[in-house]
Amino acid sequence: MNPTVCSKSKRQSENRRRGRSLGELISDVDDAEVLDAGLISSAQAVEHYEITRYGTLAAFARRLGRDDCTRILAETLAEEKATAKRLTELADRKVNQRAAAE
Ligand SMILES: [Fe+2]
Repeated sequence: MNPTVCSKSKRQSENRRRGRSLGELISDVDDAEVLDAGLISSAQAVEHYEITRYGTLAAFARRLGRDDCTRILAETLAEEKATAKRLTELADRKVNQRAAAE
């Protein structure tokens, strides 16, 4: 990764730590490719959070013998995993490479 991307990534991480909004982050990034990579990264974080929540809820439902809820939660969990996989493929295939290029 080039120094410009590293610097911007560090600033974005710092902004997240300080709880700045996504809109504020978007306005901070001038480079469209870096912005795309950052937006995908944010979307991946959301998907991974959802995977943990739906996974836990499905486990609870299964433990409680609620097959009706387990089935729906398992379907939703599978959708979240598929979305996370698509985002990762998009980032790996195109977006991160473009963001790292000068
Ligand atoms: Fe999702």
